[in-house]
Amino acid sequence: MPDHEPFRFKNGEDLLKKADELGIELPFLTTLDPLFQTAQIGSKTIPNRLAVQPMEGFDSNDDGSPSELTFRRYRRYAMGGSGLIWFEATSISQEGRSNPHQLMLTKDTISGFSELVKRTKQSAQDKFSNDHDPFLVIQITHSGRYSKPYGQLSGKIVSTNPYLDIPEKNYTLFSDDEIDKVKDIYIEAAGLVYEAGFDAVDIKACHGYLIHELLGAHTRKGKHGGSLENRSRLLLEIVNEVHERYPELIIAVRLNATDGIPYPYGFGMAEDGSFDIDLTETKRLIKELTKSGCSLLNYTAGIPYRNPHFVRPFNRPLIGLQPPDEHPLHGVERLINLTTELHRDFPQVPVVGTGYSWLNRFFPNVGAAVLEKELATFIGLGRSSFAYPDAPEDLMKKGSLDPGRVCIACSRCTELMRKNHATGCAVRDREIYAASYRKMVHG
Ligand SMILES: Cc1cc2nc3c(=O)[nH]c(=O)nc-3n(C[C@H](O)[C@H](O)[C@H](O)COP(=O)(O)O)c2cc1C
Repeated sequence: MPDHEPFRFKNGEDLLKKADELGIELPFLTTLDPLFQTAQIGSKTIPNRLAVQPMEGFDSNDDGSPSELTFRRYRRYAMGGSGLIWFEATSISQEGRSNPHQLMLTKDTISGFSELVKRTKQSAQDKFSNDHDPFLVIQITHSGRYSKPYGQLSGKIVSTNPYLDIPEKNYTLFSDDEIDKVKDIYIEAAGLVYEAGFDAVDIKACHGYLIHELLGAHTRKGKHGGSLENRSRLLLEIVNEVHERYPELIIAVRLNATDGIPYPYGFGMAEDGSFDIDLTETKRLIKELTKSGCSLLNYTAGIPYRNPHFVRPFNRPLIGLQPPDEHPLHGVERLINLTTELHRDFPQVPVVGTGYSWLNRFFPNVGAAVLEKELATFIGLGRSSFAYPDAPEDLMKKGSLDPGRVCIACSRCTELMRKNHATGCAVRDREIYAASYRKMVHG
């Protein structure tokens, strides 16, 4: 396995030379036109192929409603020109919050979310034109084993997992009844998403949170564990019911294609207990999802607390951690290849591609090539959107990115988040986040 090394390529040729050395066929296009073509989701036309990925800011008011800082983040995305904005993980309940300042959508907070939709659309139209109508998706979630509604892990899980359990922690299991109650809250929350005016709801099924945790619950007994039918019961019942009740609301799913955690503790893995990826179940699940009414997909991989390099290839690990034994370009390759393989099998469903920020100022070239080859429908940007929300506008108007503004994959945004601070880019959005990062490090 080649060593981890930070991004230090001066031009596209150097990047492609490295890819070649590593045996990676990196798609790369000089013309960026594919990024600016319109796309269709249901009856809606999306102005371009650049998407903001869901990125928690942990800056809600205490009651879970968006704060002025939240409005600021979405205003910046809207004014940056992305055609699709995928709003961050938003809890369906207090118990399911991963942080006391995670957004939470309930009957009590819905007016804040309606305002967020209104202002986000308005900012985009004021900046560009009335025809520029970004597609707004919101991710709803219950954080399961990672719930920290009052700042400490609540310790409720769906099954024990030697790869994820903290050894000294006492855990209790969610009962089947409790899971069924969570289902009702999800359906109610999806109704609130519709009422607030979002174009789509994402029933989050990734990164180790409740619905995704269930997908890997091979060892759980009862109706939510064991067979794929049982493990995916909660997700499919939610999708089915939301589709039935709100047929005009587009249903999206952000799905872990694979966890990188061996069977019987992970999803999308070979049944021999090795670290090999096997997408057989992932494909069976996507087939069921599309039959149930899911019409927008985003594939991701890994669990941020266990194998963060699967989720987001980076240059520098979190303070105190070692870099992985893998070149970040292999991480980018994994995410592109997973999306390619799954999109090839389900080409009728639009898909957002993930994991481009590490590519620095060359993400548009790789993204354009991916689009040209029809390996994905949209190019999603996570950390890059924190750092450089108006990258889409610069690409449209100038045809290139400002190297002084691109994401440097330094993990500071994750560090802020893990220490319970509001998060954003401490390097490129210094006005808000540099001081809190300094305070976090130096006290
Ligand atoms: C600070 C931070 C917050 C994130 N929040 C979310 C989230 O709310 N929902 C989600 O599905 N993924 C979340 N992610 C993962 C990103 O959406 C994305 O998949 C990942 O960063 C890789 O994309 P990138 O290379 O463009 O950053 C988060 C990542 C970071 C670093």
